[in-house]
Amino acid sequence: MKKYDVKDSRLSKLGRGRVAWADSHMPVLAKIRARFGKEKPLRGKLIAACLHVTSETANLVRTLVAGGAEVFLCASNPLSTQDDIAATLVTDYGVSVFAIRGASRNLYYNHIESTLASKPHITIDDGADLVNLVHSKYHKLAHNIIAGMEETTTGVIRLRAMDKAHKLLYPMFAVNDATVKYLFDNRYGTGQSTVDGIIRATNILFAGKVIVVGGYGWCGRGFAMRARGLGARIIVTEVNPLRALEAVMDGFDVMPMNEAAKKGDIFCTLTGDINVIRGEHFKLMKNGAVVANSGHFNVELNLVELAKMARKVKTDIRPNVEQYILKNGKSIFVLGQGRLVNLACAEGHPATVMDMSFATQSLVAEYAVKNGTRLSSKVYPVPTEIENWIATLKLDSLGMKIDKLTDEQAKYLSSWSEGT
Ligand code: ADE
Repeated sequence: MKKYDVKDSRLSKLGRGRVAWADSHMPVLAKIRARFGKEKPLRGKLIAACLHVTSETANLVRTLVAGGAEVFLCASNPLSTQDDIAATLVTDYGVSVFAIRGASRNLYYNHIESTLASKPHITIDDGADLVNLVHSKYHKLAHNIIAGMEETTTGVIRLRAMDKAHKLLYPMFAVNDATVKYLFDNRYGTGQSTVDGIIRATNILFAGKVIVVGGYGWCGRGFAMRARGLGARIIVTEVNPLRALEAVMDGFDVMPMNEAAKKGDIFCTLTGDINVIRGEHFKLMKNGAVVANSGHFNVELNLVELAKMARKVKTDIRPNVEQYILKNGKSIFVLGQGRLVNLACAEGHPATVMDMSFATQSLVAEYAVKNGTRLSSKVYPVPTEIENWIATLKLDSLGMKIDKLTDEQAKYLSSWSEGT
């Protein structure tokens, strides 16, 4: 079996420094790694991980390896791989990595298959592409798998649909749905890194611009909040009345996309659904509108329709920027080919939030190994004690202390007899 496929292992020198830099912002994960190194809770376990290959992911992989696992890593998006990190994982840490930025669809899936050739005991996904392949083509592998973990909202939605249809072949943990993950990673991580991706690609000033935020889930909330902080005027589009109301009370304009389309300077979708911005919307946009997506899959912008409306597509504008020159004479600029702009055009979430997400992944892997025989083929939440432990350690690493309930307070909270 080929043990790795990366762009160029000589890139490892750059990657090495970036992994160390990220590590210095991931104190909770480092603590877990130190304990794993002594206790080896994952001894002998083979782990297939389909994740964005970033410096933060490298530190997760180091933690799993310290715990005694052998890790096989592939990309969870063709444009999110950092080739220097893939190189350093192979060269300095001996990890089997199958990931190259810009991989074709075929190569992308070949890489997932290469990780599955390890016959894993645990799977870790970001978007459920690997789990999908196990269930569609390699279901014989499932009997060997103790559990799987899913990192992102889109992946958890897929898993819940499989669970509902009784199609899951092994237990899954919805890591995304842990409060210690989504409140920080989805909100502050996506919020900042989406701004970062749009700015790195375009160097556009946000102040004074009208920015249309498609979707007001945790990621949309985070992006809207940060873009407003840079002086942009925000329009939110939603399909969910409660979320729309929340956006209104958070002080944003809310309207349907066909109205927002006429007003926006910059558009970014963060919904997890398909064709949120489509031909009818592109047609209404101003000349020079910039369009991006920060949802997991590249399905939120209908670029097929946009291409049909264009008489020319220019790719040599700036890295990660494509200019669609429409038959009506207007231009629309698309970032990162409509793939998640925070990873395609920047480096993804900062290490400080990935610390909590990947601490959760590590502890859930340990939990799954300990409790595997008691689990069945359904979607499990992350155990509360894991969440609390990570939040406590994170606070501690930030030098923050909090109060403890007095005995009297604890008693009061558990009683129902005291009133006015
Ligand atoms: N998802 C979003 N940002 C990420 C990062 N920096 N590393 C891994 N996965 C991510």
